[in-house]
Amino acid sequence: MPQDDLDEALEARFGRTLPAADDLDAAARARLAEIAARRSHRAFAERALSPGLVRLLVATALAAPSKSDLQQADVVIVEDRARRDALADLVPTMPWVRTAPAFLVVCGNGRRIRRIGEMRDHPFANDHLDAFFNAAVDGGILLAFLVRAAEAAGLGCCPVSVLRNRAEETSAVLALPDLVFPVAGLALGWPAAEGAISPRLDLDTVMHPDRFDDAALEAEIAAYDRRRHAVQPYRRQRRTDIFGEVGDYGWSEEKARHYALSERADFGAYVRARGFRLD
Ligand SMILES: Cc1cc2nc3c(=O)[nH]c(=O)nc-3n(C[C@H](O)[C@H](O)[C@H](O)COP(=O)(O)O)c2cc1C
Repeated sequence: MPQDDLDEALEARFGRTLPAADDLDAAARARLAEIAARRSHRAFAERALSPGLVRLLVATALAAPSKSDLQQADVVIVEDRARRDALADLVPTMPWVRTAPAFLVVCGNGRRIRRIGEMRDHPFANDHLDAFFNAAVDGGILLAFLVRAAEAAGLGCCPVSVLRNRAEETSAVLALPDLVFPVAGLALGWPAAEGAISPRLDLDTVMHPDRFDDAALEAEIAAYDRRRHAVQPYRRQRRTDIFGEVGDYGWSEEKARHYALSERADFGAYVRARGFRLD
């Protein structure tokens, strides 16, 4: 039986309660409950966000940790209507890019450290895959902190990485120079609806005591498909023109169909063209 909001959120997420953690007080559990109950929002109330609030969220999120303190992630705050519409035109399947009260784009930045090397008259001796990876990871962490900051402020948000399907055009709209690349957009606003907790894979599937083990994956995925279908069934099946209709359409069928078709195969070429060596 759930004892409090944290138990309730975790039960909705994983279909079960967790063993008690007696070393946590009620206030700490309430803070964790807020994180555990988070959800993406794609519909927003018609209420503007002040430029001050947006900047406050970005500044707060920049408290995110950063690999080697290199600080290789930036945020573009897209305020100009024409630029926003140009981004929205690139991803017509995601109307919230146009309609959200605020829109940010988190970027990885491998440019600054190279310029700093030039400023300090030192060579850049790390022109390989790790340079791109570190900037991408910093961007991902900053995105997560932006989501957390937005939710802590009572806002709703949705990351939008589909912009990377049109990485060249996105870079042109935002005037991104070489070595700066979009990680994801973030649509932000006051939520129009409560939304719902999206069930996650079972803890046994993703949480490994001491050593990695996916021996029971097939049974675990089948159980997850059933648990998720009971509360969050898919309303439509993906690409029935190719794959047809099946009776047991769950998360695994949806994700397998999604990744059965090639997507963003040109992203490596884009990243190389932007000046990163990926070897
Ligand atoms: C890096 C990243 C990129 C995402 N890109 C998109 C996107 O392009 N469009 C979208 O609608 N949702 C996007 N999402 C949101 C996910 O679809 C969402 O987190 C997932 O369905 C789980 O739902 P929840 O956030 O409500 O728990 C993205 C999330 C992350 C972390």
